[in-house]
Amino acid sequence: MKHLITTKDFDKNEIEALFEDAREFLDEKPRTLLEGKSVTTIFFENSTRTLSSFESAARRLGARVLRLDVSRSSSSKGETLYDTAANLDAMGPHAIIVRHHHSGVPYLLAKHLHCPVLNAGDGKHAHPSQALLDLFTIKEHFKNEIEGRKILIVGDVKNSRVAASNIELLGRFGLDITLVAPPHFMPKTSLKSSFELSERLVEGADIIMSLRTQTERHQKAIYASLKDYANDFCLHANLLTKNPKLIILHPGPVHRNIDISDEVMASSQSLVLKQVKNGVAIRMAILKKLILEK
Ligand code: NCD
Repeated sequence: MKHLITTKDFDKNEIEALFEDAREFLDEKPRTLLEGKSVTTIFFENSTRTLSSFESAARRLGARVLRLDVSRSSSSKGETLYDTAANLDAMGPHAIIVRHHHSGVPYLLAKHLHCPVLNAGDGKHAHPSQALLDLFTIKEHFKNEIEGRKILIVGDVKNSRVAASNIELLGRFGLDITLVAPPHFMPKTSLKSSFELSERLVEGADIIMSLRTQTERHQKAIYASLKDYANDFCLHANLLTKNPKLIILHPGPVHRNIDISDEVMASSQSLVLKQVKNGVAIRMAILKKLILEK
């Protein structure tokens, strides 16, 4: 039995096979592959996209979905995570999808549960399904020719699990990564990095992945206001005009006019909604793999 805790859980061949399935699932037709199976979602942290994306994916494959409402569950009455997990396990789900504000929770659950555990985001650590859908979106756009493509990962890289998972995965698939962030958002890294989103960098890039400032993960306010951050790092149309082939990704939720301007969001360079569409197909492929492959 396999889990998806970090992108490292799948090798390159497994990822290519996953993408083949996902390409078929883009037709959005309902399927019966997981008929009779049940999938539990348990999100200890807010989510719009990832929760609904996983639940749509499970339903589109014919599975039943049990959403555990954490605010009403016994964990808010002091039940330990282990006991919550053991009780869920006793109901015999075929997969559990978990998001938690502490890094490592999906890994701990996986040790105790008797079904595949899918990490839907844990603290600052990892968000593997997001990185897989990002890689898939890049591959689809560039018709599989991604080796050596230049990507700028811009924003609060240090606190972003999306960045952490993408750095591992995109690096493994041969993308040329540069981190762009102010000093306090820059992790220790051996990758290329810049404290400035310069015209030169933008002109030389194929892809920019913009990230939300993870204000909920900052111990103290780092920028006097997000406006100051936006002055330096917001993706504005005038910055992008010189490079019309550049594509823009963002995992959502987007802070409009702080991460990306309204104009850029509305332009054909932004693949943000394509990412959301691709996300359902990728999560269908992940669920199919983890539940049906022994
Ligand atoms: C991301 C997350 O929750 O890590 N969002 C998502 O899953 N689509 C990024 C974020 O919250 O900024």
